[in-house]
Amino acid sequence: MTSASAAQPADLFAVCPPGLEPVVAGELRARGVADGREVPGGVAFTGDPLWANRALATPTRIVQRVAAFPAKHFGALQAGARAVDWAPFGGLTPEVTCRKSKLYHSGAVAERLAAVVPPGPGTLHARLFHDVCTLSVDTSGERLHKRGWRVETGPAPLRETLAASLLRLAEWAPGEALFDPMCGSGTFLIEAAVWAAGRAPGADRAFACEAWCPPGPVPSWPAVPTVIAGGDRAAAAVGAAQRNAARAGVEIDVTAKDAKHQAPPAETGLLVCNPPYGKRAHGVATAYERLGELLAGPFAGWRAAILTPDAEAARRLRRPAKAQFSVKNGGLGLRWVIC
Ligand SMILES: C[S@@+](CC[C@H](N)C(=O)[O-])C[C@H]1O[C@@H](n2cnc3c(N)ncnc32)[C@H](O)[C@@H]1O
Repeated sequence: MTSASAAQPADLFAVCPPGLEPVVAGELRARGVADGREVPGGVAFTGDPLWANRALATPTRIVQRVAAFPAKHFGALQAGARAVDWAPFGGLTPEVTCRKSKLYHSGAVAERLAAVVPPGPGTLHARLFHDVCTLSVDTSGERLHKRGWRVETGPAPLRETLAASLLRLAEWAPGEALFDPMCGSGTFLIEAAVWAAGRAPGADRAFACEAWCPPGPVPSWPAVPTVIAGGDRAAAAVGAAQRNAARAGVEIDVTAKDAKHQAPPAETGLLVCNPPYGKRAHGVATAYERLGELLAGPFAGWRAAILTPDAEAARRLRRPAKAQFSVKNGGLGLRWVIC
């Protein structure tokens, strides 16, 4: 049996959507965490939960493993749970998954755990797999895409954690100019600007683990001067993007213009775009025409990365794809086309 209390460094797991594990592992390495280990659904590593929640831009949430033990029957399950000092974590509510185990009824497992673990609003993840029970406490609270700055959204906004992951999949890093011609509420631009400013993406919100972690300093890194700009044909979207950026403590250069009137702010860089999609969205067909014109014209010297549900539409970009990644946003399957 292994079990731990809230002592540091903790056994942590950065949860992410399937397929994005290498991105999270890369971010951990870049932030100096050497022991990241990719497993399906996330990356295991050791560290300070509060630092991880504040510093990491790409995971969905961070959970802290507190115990792992064999549990073929309820007696073993409750004995394992009793061995943990639950006091630091406040009250918890079990969420259980069972696979390939003698204890297969998740409701019954949750009931037995609830009889041992002090109840409350935090989440205790219990996973039974091949008769081994792993108990992990959620350290994040609200999911990590809720940075706190995106108070205003437009149609189909991107999750902030996904935008941060897509930038990394496109091999963008501060220093390279970034432009989003259909920026909506500004998610790509603001994620990039926060990164370039050396600000921690989770600097401005609270996390569940503040109940048991020492406060510690908010991490920050040297700023890298970076041109970050874009636009949107909807003036309301541009206003929302500017106000969201101000709430995030960064500046972005966005103008209310149709893509066909937008000009590159530098000779080279990365153009990113999440064009409108869906039957009820306006301008879906023309959006790809406009992007094709930009990429063949004023942005010819730029790299591009487009998020699209539509393989046909991607052909209208007039550039061959160099790489493609499958991702999900809001339950919809999308492709991130690098061209
Ligand atoms: C899916 S939304 C982008 C959402 C954005 N990534 C976010 O996270 O908020 C698509 C945006 O494209 C804009 N748009 C559509 N056609 C355009 C065009 N021709 N020129 C500029 N913006 C356009 C829409 O106004 C809308 O804000």
